[in-house]
Amino acid sequence: MTTTHSSVDLTLRDISAGTTTGSSCSTELLDAPWDVDARDPGYGPGASMADPIPAAAPRQGEIPQEYRDASAEELDRRIRAAKAELGDRAVVLGHFYQRDEVIQYADHVGDSFQLATAATARTEAEAIIFCGVHFMAETADLLSGPDQAVILPNLAAGCSMADMADIDQVEECWEQLMEVYGGETPGVDGRMPVIPVTYMNSSADIKGFVGRHGGIVCTSSNASTVLEWAFERGQRVLFFPDQHLGRNTAKAMGISLDEMPMWNPGRPLGGNDEQTLHDAKVVLWHGFCSVHKRFTTAQIDTARAEHPGVRVIVHPECPMPVVDAADESGSTDYIRRAIEGAAEPTTFAIGTEINLVQRLAAQHPQHTIFCLDPVVCPCSTMYRIHPGYLAWALESLLDGEVINRISVGEDVAEPARAALERMLAAKPAPDSAAPASSVTPGPGSAPASSTAAER
Ligand code: 13P
Ligand code: SF4
Repeated sequence: MTTTHSSVDLTLRDISAGTTTGSSCSTELLDAPWDVDARDPGYGPGASMADPIPAAAPRQGEIPQEYRDASAEELDRRIRAAKAELGDRAVVLGHFYQRDEVIQYADHVGDSFQLATAATARTEAEAIIFCGVHFMAETADLLSGPDQAVILPNLAAGCSMADMADIDQVEECWEQLMEVYGGETPGVDGRMPVIPVTYMNSSADIKGFVGRHGGIVCTSSNASTVLEWAFERGQRVLFFPDQHLGRNTAKAMGISLDEMPMWNPGRPLGGNDEQTLHDAKVVLWHGFCSVHKRFTTAQIDTARAEHPGVRVIVHPECPMPVVDAADESGSTDYIRRAIEGAAEPTTFAIGTEINLVQRLAAQHPQHTIFCLDPVVCPCSTMYRIHPGYLAWALESLLDGEVINRISVGEDVAEPARAALERMLAAKPAPDSAAPASSVTPGPGSAPASSTAAER
């Protein structure tokens, strides 16, 4: 595929018009997101389109016609005007995987944890507009002040992986494990039978569950530090929702695959026998990211054959054989820093979401950077956010109305914060996320009057 710009939306339009080579995973990616909102419940076109969505997943109602009808130029003018008028009252956060058409307005761009902590530093902001997905907005709500409203511009922007760990299934799993392990009583070595660990990509309910049971949250950049923390306190770990991050991290720590049984919710003992659960070091929840599941070892073989010397970096949400075949694996911020740190012109094949890969390629023209997956297939739910929703959220604030507020109830928030605080207190690993202060200032943090060239 030949791309000359970083925008995935423009690339998809070029593919559809036949002005660039390549293919996408769905022709519906070019449909207006409000048309997608109106369809049957689902994650929408993109990598998660075949994943079943829980009945209770939030849906986005119709947004006012004026935002659906507005041209890109009109939305641009209105967003910039609203941001200028709101000033410090509102902060716009953009996740690395967000489309460029939205990232251009972000005051901060970063990974999920950097953005949540960036929000806490903006105490003067009444509203935090999180252009990411639902669990990220919940985390920002947990970490921000009680008077700050966190807004998710499109409520349908969930995360198919986070939705794979449902609180009722997790409670049921815990009950069964407690029967097998004889309850939450420390063994002779003082360690608990099992410590629950949840990836940041999980609902606040799950973080609350983890917090109530002496567990901890991890990110893709501190998962091994967090697992070490957990093994100091427990004989085993129950890890959710991402089996791949759990398996890749535990394997790198020397844990063998037969000590990592999978827990399939809905099956008695998760589909295991009691002995397997007793012998387990890490019980892996059967969750996965449909974006990262697309990467294969065959793609890596092709990249190596076509680009001798290529440096292959993949996200640890990729399946284990892909991580094993890559040169390196790391979080979104690790990938960004690896590219920024390369002194010589280098060819990089990247296994993560396409919006980030194309943006990095555009920002680093001295390098050749491409996505391992030749098919353009963005994260379905990140893609549900479009400038129309951002304009609606900002102009509603000017009218004194907070739309799409994401608010975590205090009964869940208190233990969820405890689980996050345990993570913050755990000793950082060498590949830890950059400190919050180094979150990348977004293009939207430049004065509204500056030109693109000045930024
Ligand atoms: P980060 O934690 O690196 O932001 O990743 C979030 C995510 O959704 C990865 O798929
Ligand atoms: Fe969720 Fe995967 Fe999208 Fe990340 S890339 S938000 S894990 S579906």
